[in-house]
Amino acid sequence: MFLRNAWYAGAWGHEVEGDKLLPRKLLGDAVVFYRKSDGSAAVLRDRCSHRFAPLSIGRKEGDCVRCMYHGLVFDADGVCVEEPGKSRPSPNLDIRAYPVVERWKLIWVWMGDPALADPDLVPDCHFQDDPAWASIPAYIHYDADYRLILDNLMDFSHLTFVHENTLGGSATIAATRPKIEQTDGGVRITRWYPGEPEIAPYLRGVETFQGPIDRWNIYELQIAGNVFLMDSGSAPAGTGAPEGVRVPQAMQFRATQIVTPEDEHHSHFFWTYAHNFDISNADLTRKLAARLTTGFQEDKDMIEAQQKVIDEYGEDGMGYIFADNGLALFRRLLRARIDAEQGQAPKLAAAG
Ligand code: FES
Ligand SMILES: [Fe+2]
Repeated sequence: MFLRNAWYAGAWGHEVEGDKLLPRKLLGDAVVFYRKSDGSAAVLRDRCSHRFAPLSIGRKEGDCVRCMYHGLVFDADGVCVEEPGKSRPSPNLDIRAYPVVERWKLIWVWMGDPALADPDLVPDCHFQDDPAWASIPAYIHYDADYRLILDNLMDFSHLTFVHENTLGGSATIAATRPKIEQTDGGVRITRWYPGEPEIAPYLRGVETFQGPIDRWNIYELQIAGNVFLMDSGSAPAGTGAPEGVRVPQAMQFRATQIVTPEDEHHSHFFWTYAHNFDISNADLTRKLAARLTTGFQEDKDMIEAQQKVIDEYGEDGMGYIFADNGLALFRRLLRARIDAEQGQAPKLAAAG
């Protein structure tokens, strides 16, 4: 079950180059990405209207794609513009074209009603394309329902356990009660860990200061497009970070993590983890990205293992702990948005 009227991250811009036809499934729809002659991106349904051959094994010709089975040609609006042997193509051969915007290094695809595709609604992910911050675009494929990944993002208590030796490294994280707020478009979580004695394991060896640390994760998960935007970092303890002061030694990050459903059981995960210190040090940026990749692999291992158990036994009977408050709120809001889009009355929690 998906929210369709939203911009979804479909591909990194660098994945679609030259004459390449990139096949990908988004929200259960097989689509193909390519670039027109002016360099702008186009996305079509990856299915020829004739005998359903994938267009992604066809050929790009200028602004069009030719199906390499019997040669029909489609333009970027999905209009069939050529049928071999006829001066005009036969009727009813057009295919679906998806509205596209390329912004913040990503190609965004509108998966719902094209009349509602407003480019101003593309989520603001500028930190991954900002010269004052350094990051590397990355991607992970998941064999899991997108909602399990969103659950994981809404509950950072898992950092203490899943990421014991990487992103976490502190028992305080699991014990912390975050501030949870509903926003216009989703849920914001604020977590502070003041006066921590140790730096997080993934920052060992790259510290900009020594001594106790004020650590934080402040983030919002937006329902439209499943976009997670986080301000996180570590500052010398007592230098005013919780009050908004960020001294020059503070190691600040702006993470962007986007979960695009592939289908009901698989997901795409696009991410960057931008840092604002020593940004011309490409080795540092690579080292941090490699360590974060290790951390995100830990999430993938846990969530895919969880998915296998759910596949076998279902979700009935799951327990509820205080750490679930954020994810429960997010799931309720997501469900209400999907119900509203589908024209149903939102289901009332605990009705009766
Ligand atoms: S299947 Fe594409 S032209 Fe026949
Ligand atoms: Fe995690």
